[in-house]
Amino acid sequence: MQDRRTLDSIRVDHPAPPHVPKDRVVDMAFAMGGVPNDLVDPYAPFEWLAGPEIPRLLYNMPPQAGLGAVAGTGNGNWVVTHYQDIDRVYTDNECFSNLGAAAFQLLIGETFRSIPLGVDPPEHSKYRMYLMPYFSPARISRDLEPRIREVVVEMIEAIADKGEADIAWDFARVYPVRIFMGLMGFPAPMFEQFLDWEWDILHSNSLEKMQAALRGVLQFLRGFMAEKEANPDEHLVSAIVNGRIDGRAPTEEEKIGMVWFLWLGGLDTVAATISQMFRRMALQPEIQHQLRGHPELINGAVEEFLRTQPILSSVRTAAKDFEWHGVHIKKGDGISCLIPAGNFDAARFENPRLFDPARTGNRHFTFVAGIHVCLGAHLARRELRLLLEEWFRRIPEFRVKPGADTTVYPGLLSIRNLPLVWDLTT
Ligand code: HEM
Repeated sequence: MQDRRTLDSIRVDHPAPPHVPKDRVVDMAFAMGGVPNDLVDPYAPFEWLAGPEIPRLLYNMPPQAGLGAVAGTGNGNWVVTHYQDIDRVYTDNECFSNLGAAAFQLLIGETFRSIPLGVDPPEHSKYRMYLMPYFSPARISRDLEPRIREVVVEMIEAIADKGEADIAWDFARVYPVRIFMGLMGFPAPMFEQFLDWEWDILHSNSLEKMQAALRGVLQFLRGFMAEKEANPDEHLVSAIVNGRIDGRAPTEEEKIGMVWFLWLGGLDTVAATISQMFRRMALQPEIQHQLRGHPELINGAVEEFLRTQPILSSVRTAAKDFEWHGVHIKKGDGISCLIPAGNFDAARFENPRLFDPARTGNRHFTFVAGIHVCLGAHLARRELRLLLEEWFRRIPEFRVKPGADTTVYPGLLSIRNLPLVWDLTT
């Protein structure tokens, strides 16, 4: 199945704000990760949006405002699809703000900010500096890599002799969350409850479920933080609540803002990436052969999996009125960066649809760019690299189990179940 959408086919005449030219108004729901497909490269349907003939600014006007309002997407927003423009949105902090981003907590009347994502410069750097040391490559190598390798080897060895596994449910869903919970110091028995809460907040589309989950998780986090203030340990939550920002103790709002946003950002982002990575390798076995034969390409392959599977797009708000590409942007307008288009912009990436682990200068936007570049990016990369290294050492060529559904959402929803099989060596 190839996607046949064109600009004309996505134009709509929903009432947009008066400063938006009518010919820019489109319905982009198909590109926001909520419409599944069964393509080997599930992001292929969005590449055309970065084409030279496409107007540099479109305006997404969904049929009705919904819960997306929390993420700034419910009442319509500009959509940026070309690499160069996405780069400007992430790096021009005078025109584009992230103030109040990911404030799901507003749904239950909580007013603390999601830190550091929902904070603008110059304040942002204070929090970034506070958290960054725990996520630096050197710290990951020293403190986390041995444990990551131990967990991944244990998990691979538990399935190697079975000849099959549901890579999405039993592996991708579990492995990064085990690492994250260990890093934060969260109790392992909270695993299923955390994932249930997160599912309800991000994917249930039910206000009641979102509110119940938010109450549950915030109550848990606050209780857990209080416990770590009374009895500190060597893990990250303890370091956050007992540390010093600018020479003073962090406020209650700062503490919950940081712990809550790490909780939200750290749970299923790597999981979705792993599921899609294995799906791609199962459907395109030449990638397996290439990496098995050339383990030195694994680092480049991780970057290429990230570029070709951008699981999130992100929204900014115009910080002031300004003109851009001939249209008027008003202070407060939402601006969504369509990473699944920008990462395939032929003006930036040669042969963009080609999965090429030897690609150089692979500066994609899967972790965005600029000051809000993903804090967990080095950790995520390390988890993916160690997984591939250890997997190819223990598991022969794998394929999708005959009859299994390979439909995937090209986004965070990703794929819930993906049974893989391989031959057992005697
Ligand atoms: C493959 C996995 C991951 C992907 C694709 C991903 C993606 C992203 C993206 C796109 C942003 C920027 C959002 C925006 O600017 O609107 C972001 C920010 C962030 N991510 Fe990740 N993330 C991943 C893993 C992680 C992990 C494992 C953690 C924590 C353990 C984490 C923590 C954060 C934090 C704290 C920020 C906010 C940074 C700031 O505002 O300065 N991420 N991530």
